[in-house]
Amino acid sequence: MVKKGRVFSGARPTGRQHLGNYLGAIKNYVTLQDDYDCVYSIVDLHALTTLEDTAHLREWTYEMALDWLAAGMDPGRGTIVFVQSHVPQVTELHTILSMVTPLGKLTRLPTFKEKVREQPDNVNYGLVGYPVLMCADITLYKANAVPVGVDQASHLEFTREIVRTFNHHFGPVLVEPQAVYTETPRVLGIDGVNKMSKSLDNHIEIASSPEEIYERVRMMVTDPQRQRRGDPGRPEVCNVFSLHQVFTPQETVQQIDSDCRTAGIGCVDCKKMFAKNLADYFAPFRERRARLAENPDEVWEVLHRGAEKAGVIASQVIDEVKGAVGLP
Ligand code: TRP
Repeated sequence: MVKKGRVFSGARPTGRQHLGNYLGAIKNYVTLQDDYDCVYSIVDLHALTTLEDTAHLREWTYEMALDWLAAGMDPGRGTIVFVQSHVPQVTELHTILSMVTPLGKLTRLPTFKEKVREQPDNVNYGLVGYPVLMCADITLYKANAVPVGVDQASHLEFTREIVRTFNHHFGPVLVEPQAVYTETPRVLGIDGVNKMSKSLDNHIEIASSPEEIYERVRMMVTDPQRQRRGDPGRPEVCNVFSLHQVFTPQETVQQIDSDCRTAGIGCVDCKKMFAKNLADYFAPFRERRARLAENPDEVWEVLHRGAEKAGVIASQVIDEVKGAVGLP
């Protein structure tokens, strides 16, 4: 089948992936394989900009790769899954692109300002260049489409500007990518307030066993006004309910909606149902993951083969870029 073009996306190695990562990114990465040539990168160099302690990088890269592969990102279908630093041409392109990037634009980006607030003692040079490295990631593979969350909108717009500037100066070499925003509403953590994130420890890992899933689901905050079993609930403000809408069949969701409003079921019943549906949904995933984990060397091998394939494209593009710029 003729594909619509090339997709590139990247994510920092954060270890075992959670429901937010899955619904916000991974699920979409898998689906896109039907229509696009896909290149998916574990961006370990980007991770260095915010990490003081790099001791977990290797383990987190491996755990994330396991989740990605088990979820269906499939090198057997031509998808390239690799580790960013294994294809060093990206750092070359980053340097070249940095020469057409106005510094003021980088330091004015809201994402940069936020990092400065978050880590005032580690405002490193790489942090400023983070969006340039991201632009290098995408353009090194001449990707047409980049699936990202809306939080990355300013970075994508920035990439498009750099591409236009570069092509204006040096000729039409780089491809201006389209952002493809995922439709999933933001997934809240078990606290029911904040976005699900590992750093807030409010997450549910997709690789969790059914028991571990239930442990986490039990802790989920529901409608705060529903204090006693007999109080009627409001599904529209309940995080468990919003996830039921993703993992539970539609008829059952409607039943839960009315049973909750009339206090026909309590939060404990509702959570048990949710935990079971969640565990069932990820059962085939857990099996595939366990099988892959039997042979860690083979997982690294898959990543290395991915880097080799990525490297073929990267070498061509970097040669083109150098030629266009006029490097001898
Ligand atoms: N900046 C992205 C994030 O924090 C990760 C990323 C790096 C990325 N390079 C990319 C995403 C290229 C899309 C395309 O989520």
